[in-house]
Amino acid sequence: MNPPIKDWRGKRVWIVGASSGIGHALADLLDTLGARVCVSARNQQSLNAFVANRPNAFAIALDVTQPGALALAFDQLTVHEHIDLIVYCAGHYTAMRAQDFDLEDARKHFDINYLGVLNLLDACLPKMTSCGKGHFSVVSSVAGYSGLPKSLAYGPTKAALIHLAEVLYLDLHPLGIGVSVINPGFVQTPLTAQNTFHMPALLTPEQAAREIVDGYRKGEFEIHFPKRFSRFLKLLRLLPYSIYFTLIGKLTGL
Ligand SMILES: NC(=O)c1ccc[n+]([C@@H]2O[C@H](COP(=O)([O-])OP(=O)(O)OC[C@H]3O[C@@H](n4cnc5c(N)ncnc54)[C@H](OP(=O)(O)O)[C@@H]3O)[C@@H](O)[C@H]2O)c1
Repeated sequence: MNPPIKDWRGKRVWIVGASSGIGHALADLLDTLGARVCVSARNQQSLNAFVANRPNAFAIALDVTQPGALALAFDQLTVHEHIDLIVYCAGHYTAMRAQDFDLEDARKHFDINYLGVLNLLDACLPKMTSCGKGHFSVVSSVAGYSGLPKSLAYGPTKAALIHLAEVLYLDLHPLGIGVSVINPGFVQTPLTAQNTFHMPALLTPEQAAREIVDGYRKGEFEIHFPKRFSRFLKLLRLLPYSIYFTLIGKLTGL
């Protein structure tokens, strides 16, 4: 569905949200495979540590809620050459139920998980569409497939991202631009460290990074993993709501 990316040597990759977790592991793997990776996030110290021993890597610290910062970084990165792959991996998650609704934190989810992507698109779409090059990839989640308990603030932002990627694909694929959405199951990162419940089919960030690179190699639009978990959730969303809600309640005990 996308031009497969098999040879990473010399490829220019920008990962936004790469100071820890999945983004950091993906940056590390792509650097090892020969890509020239730019890492972005707020934590300058972590970004500096990443580039310290990697001569081809580059860091730009920024906050995705500041549109100007993303525009400035994109312009800086594309002065001489286009970027082959942009990955939006920044994310925020707090378990939230209706009984504990917190508007400020719900807005924070929206600002980082969704509006940040729009800020990035605003920065990079004009140049990408005019030269018809590159690949835009966004990290959503299997939590975006359908409603899950404790996902009141997080889930809707991830559902919106999946929808956004589908529409982007329709518009950008004919122009020769790759678009993909990455839907991980549970991955052991600072983001999920707060979870007190059992996380089924839990992966390490390094395993997640390998799954993502495999998805790019196959040219997939949706890169979802681990398959034993993501396929099960895909199946659940096909059920009538009456059965879906009962099953989710039984499976999660919530
Ligand atoms: N872990 C999972 O089980 C799982 C499952 C499905 C999807 N995901 C998604 O995977 C992505 C990566 O999450 P992760 O699990 O690897 O968690 P993580 O280690 O907490 O990574 C989140 C990244 O987002 C960055 N970030 C957060 N707010 C930002 C902001 N305002 N500006 C710039 N960067 C910001 C963080 O960097 P700074 O704090 O340095 O800014 C960090 O690099 C997220 O989109 C998450 O929703 C994770």
